[in-house]
Amino acid sequence: MTSKNIEIKKPEGKLGILIPGLGAVSTTFIAGVLLIRKGLNQPIGSLTQLGKIMIGKGDNAKHVPIKEFVPLASLNDLEFGGWDIFEDSAYESAVNAGVLQKEHLEPIKNELSAIKPWKAVFDRNYVKKLDGTWVKKAPSYWDLAQMVKEDILKFKEEKKLSRMVMIWCGSTEIYQESVPGVHDTLANFEKALKESNKKIAPSMIYAYAALDLGIPFANGAPNLCLDAPALRELAEKNKVPICGKDFKTGQTLMKTILAPGFKARMIGLDGWYSTNILGNRDGEVLDDPESFKTKEVSKLSVLDQIFQPDEYPALYKDYTHVVRINYYPPRGDNKEGWDNIDIFGWLGYPMQIKVNFLCRDSILAAPIVLDLVIFLDLAQRANMYGLQEWLSFYWKSPIHDYDKEPVHDLFVQLMKLKNTLRWLMDVPLVTYIGTESYD
Ligand SMILES: NC(=O)c1ccc[n+]([C@@H]2O[C@H](COP(=O)([O-])OP(=O)(O)OC[C@H]3O[C@@H](n4cnc5c(N)ncnc54)[C@H](O)[C@@H]3O)[C@@H](O)[C@H]2O)c1
Repeated sequence: MTSKNIEIKKPEGKLGILIPGLGAVSTTFIAGVLLIRKGLNQPIGSLTQLGKIMIGKGDNAKHVPIKEFVPLASLNDLEFGGWDIFEDSAYESAVNAGVLQKEHLEPIKNELSAIKPWKAVFDRNYVKKLDGTWVKKAPSYWDLAQMVKEDILKFKEEKKLSRMVMIWCGSTEIYQESVPGVHDTLANFEKALKESNKKIAPSMIYAYAALDLGIPFANGAPNLCLDAPALRELAEKNKVPICGKDFKTGQTLMKTILAPGFKARMIGLDGWYSTNILGNRDGEVLDDPESFKTKEVSKLSVLDQIFQPDEYPALYKDYTHVVRINYYPPRGDNKEGWDNIDIFGWLGYPMQIKVNFLCRDSILAAPIVLDLVIFLDLAQRANMYGLQEWLSFYWKSPIHDYDKEPVHDLFVQLMKLKNTLRWLMDVPLVTYIGTESYD
């Protein structure tokens, strides 16, 4: 119990990680955790495992590891389970994804091979480029949700879990907007489940099952999913933390690092052209215009909020922002992102910046998955529920109250995250205002 009367339950027992979608990202995440706990590698990229937080000020300031400052689940206590539309084990899927080399997969082959997906909830109308065989069949969507719950409860029993978290790592579903009468209220949503209404996407059925069982849910893809008011209502009703959406990894991560810098120095922008070549299954799914639209909306949203064109018309009015993704199989998971940024400075003189990011998508996403499941579990033990805005740091399109704008600036997001941890542990916040960080 902190002096603020916040009780954070201890992370006792095992934490089950439930993953719809055993593909490139999730198998890279699981493989990494298994290697790290064998002492064969380091959790590079993970704030929960390597990050520190400054406590106190001036000469008395200490930099404390985050995992010692807040009570987090240990990597040794994680158990993994998941669903996929293909029957491949996590080992086979990791080999197919081609992200990790043999030398990294061999030492953990047995553990990965033992993770066999449960049959998925799938509707091809939502992911047109894939056609899986390992799919649940039931008289209605309501029954499908019950089957997902049965998988979860069986897993809990088998692995003797004390807590669970679900994180969607499945393919990006087609673009959709909230439909009144279906997605708006929990009562309508449950009725629509019973009627197998086609406006309910598979990701929503998993989310419903998790939230109904009181299990925190994160959405790693840009799908509508948690933006449906009905699911938020369920999260509030059952007091469950939720967050999303769309992991902030390659190009968008760079955007939310660079753009706040230009803005801080009052440098103008004429245009930002971004293109990607990507050859993994995610790239193939995004080759379908309807799935791409979901991703495009997510990727386009970040700049306006950072640049605030209405507040700074001389600098940011009418800039052009274009995002493209091209499926190019030879690259596999090694995405290449190109950005051409047309900026202007003093007296309007134009300049250009070219960014060529040769990144590895799943290598960037895996530590984010780890931090999210660890922090969502903390949130639940601290009785924080509903939207977890402090986790915006990890998201391309942070889900937010419908009448508010999300914050995209990475550094503001990090400050919010760390100050939330300080608030939780009842120590003074650090806002870098005035001389507060000095004596
Ligand atoms: N890698 C990144 O940097 C990154 C960044 C942001 C978002 N994402 C999103 O994360 C998700 C996973 O990415 P990935 O590279 O692992 O893709 P992937 O194609 O390798 O894996 C997705 C897996 O989900 C499975 N799947 C599809 N529909 C399903 C369903 N209804 N139920 C269960 N399984 C289902 C697919 O068969 C596949 O195995 C994608 O939506 C992607 O857009 C990835």
